[in-house]
Formats: sequence, C-alpha cells, structure tokens
Amino acid sequence: MSNNSNWIKALSVTDVPKNDVKRWDYGTKSFAIFRTAEDRCYATDDTCTHEHARMSDGFVMNHTIECPRHAGSFDFRTGEALNPPACINLKTYATKIEDGVIYVDVG
Ligand code: FES
Repeated sequence: MSNNSNWIKALSVTDVPKNDVKRWDYGTKSFAIFRTAEDRCYATDDTCTHEHARMSDGFVMNHTIECPRHAGSFDFRTGEALNPPACINLKTYATKIEDGVIYVDVG
C-alpha cells in the first residue's frame, strides 16, 4: 500500500449484488465497483478505455466486465483489456471491506 492512500467510504457491500457491478461517483470521477460470488470487491474507472461508455452498464461474467457499447471486455481484478476493440487496460483501485462497507483507495 502506498503512502498516498486515500480510503473513501463508497458503498455498502449489499448495495452491489453478487456477480454484478454498481457505479459510484466521487468528486468528478465515476468508478465501477464489482462484487464477486465470494464477496470480494474490486474497483475500476467507470469509463471504458475505448470510447465513452459506462462499465457499470456492462455485463459481468465471472471476473470479466463486457462493455455495453462494443463488447470489449476487461478483467476487473487487474483491469487487463481482454479483447478488441478494448486494447488499453482499465485503471484499477484498491478496495477493502470493513463492517460491511466498501472503501476505495482513490489515491
Ligand atoms: S466503448 Fe467500450 S469497447 Fe468500445
């Protein structure tokens, strides 16, 4: 963890259904927050790296998010772009869960 951590209270774990994603806005930025079947949470930028589309409007399958606009997909754990037209990785953010609340390190 870097010395520049900036943990911000985002959503309750139960705000995000399992195997799904929710948008969270903080300041001028939007984040996509994911919850897996195992109750692990991940956060990425909400804007696709290909063109303007919200990842939180996309489709979650296992550990991937498919963009709703052109079906590029990313591994939301690492941000890795997995198939064209997505070729630039999504930025990811560290998360932690405390007392049922998801915190995001917005940096
Ligand atoms: S806008 Fe996401 S793949 Fe094109």
